[in-house]
Amino acid sequence: MPAAAPIGIHDLSFATTQYALTHATLAAHNGARVAKYHQGIGQYAMSVPAADEDVVTMAADAAAPVVARHGADRIRTVVFATESSVDQSKAAGVYVHSLLGLPSAARVVELKQACYSGTAALQFAAGLVHRDPAQQVLVIAADVSRYELGSAGEATQGAAAVAMLIGADPALVRIEEPSGVFTADIMDFWRPNYLTTALVDGRESISAYLQAVEGTWKDYTERGGRTLDEFSAFCYHQPFTKMAHKAHRHLLQHCGRTVDEAEVTRAVGLTTAYNAEIGNSYTASLYVGLAALLDHADDLSGRAVGFLSYGSGSVAEFFAGTVVPGYRARLRTAANRTAIGRRTEIGYDRYRHLHERSFPCDGGDHPTPNETTGPYRLVGLADHKRLYATR
Ligand code: HMG
Repeated sequence: MPAAAPIGIHDLSFATTQYALTHATLAAHNGARVAKYHQGIGQYAMSVPAADEDVVTMAADAAAPVVARHGADRIRTVVFATESSVDQSKAAGVYVHSLLGLPSAARVVELKQACYSGTAALQFAAGLVHRDPAQQVLVIAADVSRYELGSAGEATQGAAAVAMLIGADPALVRIEEPSGVFTADIMDFWRPNYLTTALVDGRESISAYLQAVEGTWKDYTERGGRTLDEFSAFCYHQPFTKMAHKAHRHLLQHCGRTVDEAEVTRAVGLTTAYNAEIGNSYTASLYVGLAALLDHADDLSGRAVGFLSYGSGSVAEFFAGTVVPGYRARLRTAANRTAIGRRTEIGYDRYRHLHERSFPCDGGDHPTPNETTGPYRLVGLADHKRLYATR
């Protein structure tokens, strides 16, 4: 029997919001030392959605260039991973399917498990492609992270969407077997249906994350995965970028290594460039980290990258990917920098207004102000229905 074709990430594009709040502005408002944000948690700015932006508009913005480059003929499945969805029943991906004019011969579904579900979507997609190598799956991970104003979590907010085309013979990253997986029932971070902001036990969430690093690595090695030294870089879920450093330090210690800070920075440093400016984009964060690595590293052709996906509650997965020779010609470095650079910096009062904004639940007509300069906008809510349009 001929060997099965490798499966993985054929294309990757991300989008973020119209506005940004800097941590210098946040610190000036709440009296924190800005060094706590810049050095302590490794964050410089957070993306803030305009009144007419949400996970759907960001997702369509991220996915449109992927569809433009490859066409939609082979896309039979759209998997939308999010924990900040806009409806309890309808998958957010159905709106994206419509905005992008994808074929009606497609299935669309939404997945949830905190920040982990982007990776669940990727693995489900790989399974579908394994069954039918002619098909491509559009995986979207999109989130807006919101904590209560004045809370410790506020400084770790952010928003972004990543779109990945998963297929056979990928141009960017081949996803390898095995995966190491881990689940533990922990209340470290959660959002009940009646709240619009997340609840979190900050310290508990960091130790739950580190416990998951150990758990996934144990399962990964027991299943015959690569050794630590075989990896050229590690992409970690980044609720704040210093968490990637903490996680890698922990993995080295767990493996009995002496921790050398230069080695930690070498392993994770390039993955944090975009998330330091975007903030926590939950499901998208790990793959925004991958985009930053591919855009900034010297040639990684043929090299192995480790991926650690963590979702509070908690579920985690460690897996490896091999970077495909020739990948650099397929990167979207200029567009990625533009997505971050085009944001308008806003002051604290404007941010506060946007943070506290919500639609009334009266079934009336509630148009949104025309704010985004992105390609798609949330036009408003009418008769309890969200209306989207191309701008
Ligand atoms: P905090 O109490 O504001 O900050 O909470 P802190 O006092 O712990 O300080 C943070 C760091 O800044 C510390 O460094 C300080 O030493 C340092 P560390 O000891 O950790 O290395 N620091 C300074 N450094 C330089 N100059 C200074 C200075 N002052 C302090 N002047 C916390 C921080 C992250 C807990 C908070 O922001 C939070 O609760 N965030 C939300 C939860 C979170 O992000 N958890 C991460 C793991 S859980 C996860 O990743 C899942 C998640 O993405 C959700 C999902 O899965 O859906 C959140």
